[in-house]
Amino acid sequence: MGLILEVKNLTKKFGGLTAVNDVNFEIERGEMLGLIGPNGAGKTTLFHVISGFEKPTSGTVFFDGVNITGKKPFQIVNMGMARTFQLVKSFHYLSLLDNVSVACLSPRGKEAFGASGIDEAASSILTSVGLVDKARLPPVILPHGDLRKLQIGKALGTNPEMLLLDEPFSGLVHEEKEGIAKLIRRLKDEGVTIFVTGHVLRELMTLVPRVIAMHHGRLIAEGSPQEVANNKVVLEAYLGRGEGFA
Ligand SMILES: Nc1ncnc2c1ncn2[C@@H]1O[C@H](COP(=O)(O)OP(=O)(O)OP(=O)(O)O)[C@@H](O)[C@H]1O
Ligand SMILES: [Mg+2]
Repeated sequence: MGLILEVKNLTKKFGGLTAVNDVNFEIERGEMLGLIGPNGAGKTTLFHVISGFEKPTSGTVFFDGVNITGKKPFQIVNMGMARTFQLVKSFHYLSLLDNVSVACLSPRGKEAFGASGIDEAASSILTSVGLVDKARLPPVILPHGDLRKLQIGKALGTNPEMLLLDEPFSGLVHEEKEGIAKLIRRLKDEGVTIFVTGHVLRELMTLVPRVIAMHHGRLIAEGSPQEVANNKVVLEAYLGRGEGFA
């Protein structure tokens, strides 16, 4: 076991705004950790800084014991950390199969699936995310739920050890949420470490055993979903913004 991610004193400033403020936490290999926080809390910025899409103002990120602070996204993906985006991104006019194949052609993908087995690997990933019957279609004509699944499929093409999922349930209807939750659980069972954000705790309540909560860039609580749901500071953070909590 041991730690797969260590975040130490991580800070990200945009001019006068401190989006991530001296954040410290760790994730065990194979763990599933949730991150909640109201609108603008800094969740996505934290993901950007960890995955190399933004450089931190200060602080350090260790992945698998290696200091990855300031590395580029592709270098971090090549080390085994993949992520999805809150706003879905795809190659709109390539088929779903080709979208996933591109990811399978990454160094880790080729190593895992072999250069000649890319189509097969992409197809089996599409099966695992429930999209294989749409393999030949382009993302541009698909509903939002399918695009969320596709994002996870593309991340899986890089054969990650750890997956960062930024609001994978956002904009989905109930059955779609169930489908994504089931998929995330299966990935966890296969040994992938999961770090997942949710706008409201309800989405993560039955999914993750441990949650950290963020507000104004700072970590304000840590514990089981139940503990965090009953945490006064967390409740105030949500109520203060007039947002629903659960
Ligand atoms: N590139 C940027 N330049 C300036 N400010 C930014 C930038 N990115 C984010 N911010 C600000 O940083 C703060 C944190 O934003 P962030 O998107 O990380 O929050 P979040 O917790 O992901 O919110 P949401 O729940 O809406 O997804 C916000 O005040 C936001 O306006
Ligand atoms: Mg966000």
